[in-house]
Amino acid sequence: MNIILLGPPGAGKGTQARRLVEERDMIQLSTGDMLREAKDSGTEMGEKVAKVMAAGQLVTDEIVIGLIEEKLQGDNAGGFIFDGFPRTLPQADALGELLTKYNNTLDVVVEMQVDDEALVNRITGRFTCGGCGEVYHDDTKRPAKEGVCDVCGKSDMKRRADDNADALRTRLMEYYKKTSPLIGYYYAKGDLKSINGLGEIEDVAALIKTALN
Ligand code: AP5
Repeated sequence: MNIILLGPPGAGKGTQARRLVEERDMIQLSTGDMLREAKDSGTEMGEKVAKVMAAGQLVTDEIVIGLIEEKLQGDNAGGFIFDGFPRTLPQADALGELLTKYNNTLDVVVEMQVDDEALVNRITGRFTCGGCGEVYHDDTKRPAKEGVCDVCGKSDMKRRADDNADALRTRLMEYYKKTSPLIGYYYAKGDLKSINGLGEIEDVAALIKTALN
């Protein structure tokens, strides 16, 4: 099964994708994570995208489509979870073409609806384990032992450079201008299932499970 988790910054796409990887042996394809890896590797492409990401703008379609195409050629185990991709109509068209090219299909697009006030709170309180990528929050999801990851045991918590009020304003504008048109795009294709992403992490997971079944 191949699915898209669609939603604004902080909607909980990454949190829910990691659960699906655990529960269903799916593969999470997060273009945000791929771009952060490229940024950290110091390649020419990484340097190019670093400034764009820090400002909260979208990286070019060409770069992210290239990253996704590389991954689609690999093993797809229990299916792909597209997390943060597609984010523009050209990316959505490209994904459709790539899935056809690699003999694959898209099954469901889960739209996670969360209001702006909750998004600001989620983004400004987020921190992530530098070892395994587990996502935490100052209020709603703290590790059992302060500063130590529950999953991998490392003490390497990080906050993202773009998780600040200025960049978040731009990220939200980019979402409403360029990504939200995908809601209509996938609705028209009959692929869209919209869920309320405002509840507790467990409750949202249950809604996603229902949407996928
Ligand atoms: P990306 O990394 O994709 O960021 P994003 O879409 O802004 O999404 P986030 O990772 O911020 O949020 P999320 O929905 O995963 O929420 P999370 O689960 O972490 O992209 C970053 C940048 O890369 C972009 O701005 C752009 O520059 C570039 N980029 C990436 N893809 C691109 C593309 N396709 N095209 C062009 N450019 C691209 O949760 C957030 C917090 O809330 C956490 O602390 C979590 O613990 C907490 N939380 C989660 N769920 C709940 C809940 N139900 N209740 C309470 N708290 C919760």
